[in-house]
This record gives sequence, C-alpha cells and structure tokens, in this order.
Amino acid sequence: MKLIAILAAALINIIPSPVEMQVKDGCFKLGPETSFCVSDSQALGVAEFMSSKLSASTGFRLPVSECGKGDIALVLDPESGLPREGYTLEVTKDRVVATAPDAAGLFYAMQSFLQLLPPCADSRVKVDLKTWTAPCVSIRDYPRFGWRGFHVDPCRHFMTVEETKRQIDMLSEYKVNVMHWHLTDDQGWRIEIKKYPRLTEVGGWRTEFDGSVHGGFYTQEEIRDVVAYAAERFVTIVPEIEMPGHSFAAIRAYPWLSCLNVPVWDFGVWGSPDIVLCPGSERVFRFLDDVAAEVSALFPGEYFHIGGDECQKTKWKECDACQARIRQEGLVSDEEGTAEEKLQSYAVKRMEGILAKYGKKLIGWDEILEGGLSPNAAVMSWRGEKGGIKSALAGHCVVMTPSHDGLYLDHFQGDPKVEPVSIGNYTTLEKIYGYNPVPEVLVQNGKAEYVIGVQANTWSEYLYSIAQREYMMYPRIFALAEIAWTPLENKDFKDFCRRVDDACQRADYHGINYHIPLPEQVGGSYDNVVFTDKAVLEFKTTRPMRMVYTLDGSVPTASSKQYRKALEFTSDATLRIASVTTYGKLSPVRTITIRKTLPAKAVTPSFTGIRARRADGRFITPQDCKDAVWYEVKAGTLRDLSNLEKLDKNMPPSVRFYASKAEAYFSVPETGVYVFSSDCDQVFIDGALVIDNSGEVKRFSRHDGGVALEKGCHSVEVVFISNVIGGWTSLRNKSEVYIRPVSSEKSQLISIVK
Ligand code: ACM
Ligand code: ZN
Repeated sequence: MKLIAILAAALINIIPSPVEMQVKDGCFKLGPETSFCVSDSQALGVAEFMSSKLSASTGFRLPVSECGKGDIALVLDPESGLPREGYTLEVTKDRVVATAPDAAGLFYAMQSFLQLLPPCADSRVKVDLKTWTAPCVSIRDYPRFGWRGFHVDPCRHFMTVEETKRQIDMLSEYKVNVMHWHLTDDQGWRIEIKKYPRLTEVGGWRTEFDGSVHGGFYTQEEIRDVVAYAAERFVTIVPEIEMPGHSFAAIRAYPWLSCLNVPVWDFGVWGSPDIVLCPGSERVFRFLDDVAAEVSALFPGEYFHIGGDECQKTKWKECDACQARIRQEGLVSDEEGTAEEKLQSYAVKRMEGILAKYGKKLIGWDEILEGGLSPNAAVMSWRGEKGGIKSALAGHCVVMTPSHDGLYLDHFQGDPKVEPVSIGNYTTLEKIYGYNPVPEVLVQNGKAEYVIGVQANTWSEYLYSIAQREYMMYPRIFALAEIAWTPLENKDFKDFCRRVDDACQRADYHGINYHIPLPEQVGGSYDNVVFTDKAVLEFKTTRPMRMVYTLDGSVPTASSKQYRKALEFTSDATLRIASVTTYGKLSPVRTITIRKTLPAKAVTPSFTGIRARRADGRFITPQDCKDAVWYEVKAGTLRDLSNLEKLDKNMPPSVRFYASKAEAYFSVPETGVYVFSSDCDQVFIDGALVIDNSGEVKRFSRHDGGVALEKGCHSVEVVFISNVIGGWTSLRNKSEVYIRPVSSEKSQLISIVK
C-alpha cells in the first residue's frame, strides 16, 4: 500500500474489519439534498431504516425512492456472486452504491457506511455538524460465520425490553446477528406461557435475602415486539428454555415437575440445586411439549436452545419413576456414560422430537453429548472446545463459546482488585480478540464447516444493574463481532484498539455503558498504601491508555498531569488516577492514599492458637452484630470461622446465619511493609482496621491494605459473617487472611502462632 493509502486506512473505523477494502481519495458529502434509491421492496426496507436513522442525527430529510436515481443506491442482486449477507460498497465523491445478494447484505453495507461517518451519526437527536462526510472506499465484504452471537441472561438479574432492544440496536451495527435469549433458570422464569401462568406469576419473582423482591418477565406480546425489532435489524433471536437442570424456578411454580414433588423455596443464591426436572414422568414431557409449542410460535428462527448444562443427577438415582424409565429404556452404565447420563440423553432426544414437531432444530450446551448426542442436535461448546470438536467430527453443527478462551463476558476484564465484583476468571479484550473459533484439528479433518459460528455469553449473577451488564459486554463484544466476521488474516489487535475508540463513542450515543481500562498497580493493586522510607507506584493498563492524575485533592480531568513513569512518594499523599481515552473520556477514578508510617512494634503473644467466638443471628455488616450474644467456639484455623455450619447443594434452606470472630497472633520473618488480603468482613492488625468488606459481596477481596510491621509477632482479629449478599453465600468463602511482602506478588496464609 502507498503511504497515503495506509494513512487513509488509518482513518477507517469499521468493525468488523472488512474482507477487502481500498481507500480512495476524497469524500462523499451527506447533505440536506441527499436521497436514497432502491432496486426493490426488500432494499426499500433497509433504505427506509437507514434514512430514518440518519435523519435523526443529521436533521436532513433523506427521502427514499424506487426510481433508480438517488445519491445512495441500494441494489439487491441475487446474481452478484457474493456469499449470503455479503455486500459491496462503493463510496465515491458523487454517489454511494451498495450491492448485495440479500437484504441482510444491504443492511450490513449500510452499517459499514454508517461507520464511515463520524460517531455522532449514531445520535438519536440532531447534531449540529458543519459537514457530514464519509471517506471514499471500495469494499467487498462477507462474514466468516453465519452465527455471530451474543447471549443475555435476564434470569439472574432481569433486563427490561427497552434494555434488551438497546443491545440489539447497537450490536446489529456491528453485524452481530444472533441473540441467544436465556429465558429460564433456577433464579427466574422470564417468558409468559399461557398454559402455565404460575411459571411467571411464581417463578418470575424471588425474595432476596435482604427481603427485597427481584424479578420480572416478558409477556408474549413483548416477546413478539422484541423479535420483530430484532428482525428489522437482521438479528435472529434463539430462545433458551432450560431442561432438565437449571429448572428450579419452574419447579417452584409446579413442584410436580421434579422427582420429589414437594414445595420448594426461592432460589436467590448463585449456583445450581440438584432438584431438577423428572424425566421419569410423562407429565413432565407433556409440560415441555406445551411450553415448546408456545415458545416455538413466538420465535421464527430455526434453532431452539434447550440448555442441558450442569444437570445434577443425584435425585434421579433415588426416584422410582426415573429408575423405572432407566429399566424400561434399557439404559445401562457403560463406557459411554452412567445410566443417569443416558437418562439425560433420553430426555434431550425426546425434546428433539418435540421440537421437530414445531419445525425447530435443537441446540444445547455441550453436556448434551453425555450419554449420546441426539441425531440432529447442534452443540454449543462452552466447557472448552472439546465438546465442539467431538461434535463437529461427528458431523454436528457447532457454535463455539468456550468460557476460558475469552467468550464469557462475566469474567473480570482487568485486575480483580480494581474492577467491580464478578464471577471470577480473567478475560481481557485482547484475549477474546485472539480467539479463533475453528480448531486446527477440524481443519485437518475437513470438518471446519461444521463450526457455524461463535458467541459471547454474559451471565448475570453479578450484574446488578444494566450499567454493570453493559460494562461487562462492551467493548469486548466488539471483539466478538470481529472474530465472527473478519478473516483471520485481516485481524490486527493494535488496529482494532484504535477502532474500538470509535465504537465506544457510538456506544455513548446509544446510551450504552462500557469498560475503560483502569490504572492498575504493577505488582498488585490496592488503595491503602503505606511506606517507611519511600513508596514507588508504577501503573499499567490492560491495553495501551493514557493515564492522568492529581495530587491536590481535585478530581482528574483529561488535561490533568499525564502519568509517564513510576511515581515516588516520600511523604503522605492522596493520589487520584484515571485512564483517559483518545476522545477524552475518563475511566472511573482510583483514589489511593499513601501514608508514611513506622513499623508496628512486635508484641509478645498472650496466648497461642485461635480464640474464636460466635453469635447467632442474621447480620449483614459487623455493625449489626455489635450487641449480639457471643459464645466461645473451637477453631483450629481461621478457615474454621466459615466452617461452623455446612452448606449443601440446595443452599437456601441450609444457609445458617451467624457471625464469628477470631483473635490470634501471627509472625512475620522480616521488618517491612506487607499487604493483607481477605474475603472476611473485617481484619484488624495490631488493633487497627486494615480490611473492611462490610456489606459488600465478599469475593475477590477488593480492599487490600498495607501495614508496616516489625519482625516478630503481631495480633490479628478477624470478623466473618455467614450471610448472603448479592446472591453470594459467604459460607462458600475460605475465611482466611493472606499476606505478601509489598515487593512480592505472591500471597500466602498468615502464619498463626501455635
Ligand atoms: C454454562 O455456562 N453453564 C453453559
Ligand atoms: Zn425422577
């Protein structure tokens, strides 16, 4: 490429990056006189959609006609020789011509054109811009995969119709064309089923442990509305109705759906109970048939997702009906699986038959491989690629969404110490961008074509608001758009990062929140820094970002002092630091206190081991248990504080609420500064409060604290409360305290004086 062309290409922000593109001299100017013309009625729909969108931001009228004369021409040409959904786009100084074999292709040509215009073209209200220009280009483009999916989970936390449409509207601009709608789970049933009204009346709502009620559901009318809204944007919605596991909300509504047939409780915690649908019962299959009939009628797409994941089979072992079915069907344990796994396979196969009646193809999570895959099932490979590879080798269609390869957007996208609480793991923008959905082994075996697509999933256990949900989705979902569309050889992460800035500005116009990488401390992030001689703080970001900071108490702005090298402190300070995008938007600001201190004197322990006490009651914060009645309990280690009660699979009835405290001494080998970390509610070192997680979701301790200590023994006091906050059951925590020298990234358990 000539230098001028390289420079011009650097101004093109299209995501996903097109297959072929030449940047030409000059620009097309969109003005009040610009008009659209179309070849036929299918193209008309796309042109009217686009005209209406651009009219809103530009304030121009942009009429559409079928006369063949117009500045922006949309030509539907089945003989174009382009693959499905493909298009060509010629932008010259005088005219824009989009050609495609189908309406979807024209829609995508228009999305590329939209992205050639400035980000404010996405505004819903008129923007006063002197000139609206798009650089001249010649593009030939088509998708790598037919299934370019995003998944939303309104079960753990509900998502309104308006919030759902917002994602469809945004993501269709990035040529994402499938929304996998996870409509049922243990914590909520979200779709109205007329024949079984209790599914939403009862299963649509849950009482949280703080007494508040969470829930909601979509009426069939709302579902139709969302489906039509998506169709207008060439997005197909794939409904998911979970079976035979993850069905607790349905069982709450109709207890006869489970093997036990006894009333069950609200399930307001994360995790999955072992009370599942009973595949021994014919009534259960009639229920599934009735539900499938109503759901199938609402969704015109070819696929129906039946879940199938994480179904615990303990109750089937004890259920007469299930065991009778196992005998009747001759399901025996062998190298292919246990009899109960085969019972799951039996249930999925029956579901495949039910769906066929309603003209739907079955797709399920990769557990549907267990006990034998249904003949025509498609598989969504989430536990790595293994299930997907096995299925594709056997000639089944596969959608890749391996959780640990970057496709689970509920994972942390930066240092857990500075990011909002999440389910765990670590998936940066670069990690998802680097994913290639076609494993080499499938290429070698000539089975690559069975990978029909790739999808990113956003489970919502820890997504307590729509802002947080969008924060986790964006911008990582833009990477999904590119890996699903762009040929491998055109991918370029550095260039993608540049284009993401444009996409994020468009997200601003859509009112969509997104993640901007925060400054993270090299060696481990924490906000309470102490030092004895000097503190040196070095910062990094998960992708290249400018960082700005203040030391005078003011909130940083884009023009605050730029961070260029490690900061040194020899006296007390408060550092406020944020990242700033190329367009001047700041990440959340981190406030770090830096305090000069003398090392705390070592003490002589007045006892050895752990002195533990317990108080019974429902406490949220340590303040709540100030006046509680405490009694002594035995504890060999700090870990025992969260072991005073046991938790079983079906957690809610077994959660025991209490508070516990421990006092002990621990030793450090050297005088120095140490950083403490704990998921307990509070940790005091030598009487001073160092960690305070009060009232928060107690996972991935985000309040680490530094303390200067003399070599020798020091006292520690720990408060642990067994409660449920934000759906997290703290009895699952290891109530430990970890320590690391400030110069080390490696933490270990504090060394209790025994
Ligand atoms: C899943 O993440 N359980 C499919
Ligand atoms: Zn059963």
